[in-house]
Amino acid sequence: MSKKFYITTAIDYANGSPHLGHAYEKVLTDIVARFRRLMGDEVKFLTGLDEHGQKVQMSAQKEGVPPIDVCDRLAIEFQGLCQALHISNDDYIRTTQQRHKDVVQDILQKLYDKGEIYKADYNGFYSVRQEQFVTEKEKVDGHWPAIYGDVVEVTETNYFFKLAQYQDWLIRTIKTNEQMIYPRFRSADVLQFLKEPLNDLCISRPKERLEWGIELPFDSDFVTYVWFDALTNYITAAGYGTDEFDKHWPADYHVIGKDILVPPHAVYWPIMLKALGIELPKHFLVHGWWLSSGAKMSKSTGEVVNPLDLIEQFGADAFRYFVTREMNVGQDSEFSLDLFMSRYNSDLANDLGNLVSRLLNMGGRYTDGKVPTAEVEEAPEKEIKALWSATEQELIPLFEDFQFHKALDRIFSFVSGINRYAETRAPWKLAKSEAPEDQAALRTSLATMAEALRLAVVLLTPVMPQISDKIRGLVGADNFDSLEGQLQWGNTLEGKALGEKTILFPRPEPK
Ligand code: MSP
Repeated sequence: MSKKFYITTAIDYANGSPHLGHAYEKVLTDIVARFRRLMGDEVKFLTGLDEHGQKVQMSAQKEGVPPIDVCDRLAIEFQGLCQALHISNDDYIRTTQQRHKDVVQDILQKLYDKGEIYKADYNGFYSVRQEQFVTEKEKVDGHWPAIYGDVVEVTETNYFFKLAQYQDWLIRTIKTNEQMIYPRFRSADVLQFLKEPLNDLCISRPKERLEWGIELPFDSDFVTYVWFDALTNYITAAGYGTDEFDKHWPADYHVIGKDILVPPHAVYWPIMLKALGIELPKHFLVHGWWLSSGAKMSKSTGEVVNPLDLIEQFGADAFRYFVTREMNVGQDSEFSLDLFMSRYNSDLANDLGNLVSRLLNMGGRYTDGKVPTAEVEEAPEKEIKALWSATEQELIPLFEDFQFHKALDRIFSFVSGINRYAETRAPWKLAKSEAPEDQAALRTSLATMAEALRLAVVLLTPVMPQISDKIRGLVGADNFDSLEGQLQWGNTLEGKALGEKTILFPRPEPK
């Protein structure tokens, strides 16, 4: 059985509507998935929703509805976002699905039987208003912040997972496996965390306090809490416990934000898997945050950008382009509408959009709406071909290294190169001359522009799938499933029909 390329996103909390940060992670993962498919891999791409927990239970109580109703509504919203963004996921997991509950209970039972889970008293500070445990670290100037209301010391019986015994193994694993975490500097955060002794992980909540969770198979008075439920989604969807599992597991990439690397993904998850005797995922691809006024964009700060507004106004591909062009994977990036507009207007509408409409316009007027034959190769043609060959050499390595912002920079420099070529050749001037050499140069220039455009959008496809397909259609190029042969300059479009002049990136109505 051949192994698939298995890639996952984090599963989003069902405690609010999706924002730009959620949308970004899906776009990023989708680009990797689409690129790997073009490279010939059989891809399984998973995303989903994390539905259990205190916050969901509380918002359902406030609304006076069962928690599943809140989750169903949010599942529609998050899945709607995936559709609006043309995310090519093959599966969507919800942690309330039976397939998931079965796997969570199965692994909990296995770990319990192996003695990896034990029951003990937990002593801590509890915020009655927030219904959560808080630690001394949360104190400001020695006092609990007002949002916690009354904080009382309580003792609660819970179940714990033995983490501490795996600490040395984990440190060795991370040190010897340098490729595990991308970007590599994030490994240092993990090792830093592991310098302190690990406490065992509290994995349960008594039902009297939290009902909305997956019941422990060995004690029906408790549900499992947060990470044991959420992280397990990755193996549930890979078919844990069935023949399918070996085909998908280990995951090639877990794509996550930097806030959930340490400790959940880099500490709890590897230890859970090790304790179960399951192979570790191969890599974590850790992206940074979209910021709003310098702070992480999140529901709690209130300053969120609704991706659907931008998609509705500018199209999914413009949104995908912007977030990919602006974010250096691993770093943070401040969102600004001005920057969005400036990228939209200058890169998309001016450079790319005008190039396409110029070519179609001239094709309609001078060459019967067909891609003519390139008959001569002089300095301008040599120059644009040399630019392509330099660009092409860089693109696949940049994609393989998640340097998508740079790849887009190179592609759009090439698009500017095509525009410069058009200015140099000035086909609109050549068209005024009857001289055979000018007519040959006219045909050559339109053929060259069409071929260069075809090439420019080959690796734009994973980032802007719809626009790339559309441009291919307009210059008479076929869509493709594999990159094989696609990046070579050839006369592939000769005689193909050019489309009608069209505006790919309309100027938005002022709002
Ligand atoms: N439910 C957990 C993840 C469980 S994975 C087994 C969770 N959910 S979340 O909704 O808070 O975040 C989902 C993903 O979105 C995370 O990877 C998180 O880092 C990412 N983002 C949330 N806000 C973000 C930004 N402002 N910017 C970029 N991504 C961020 O954590």
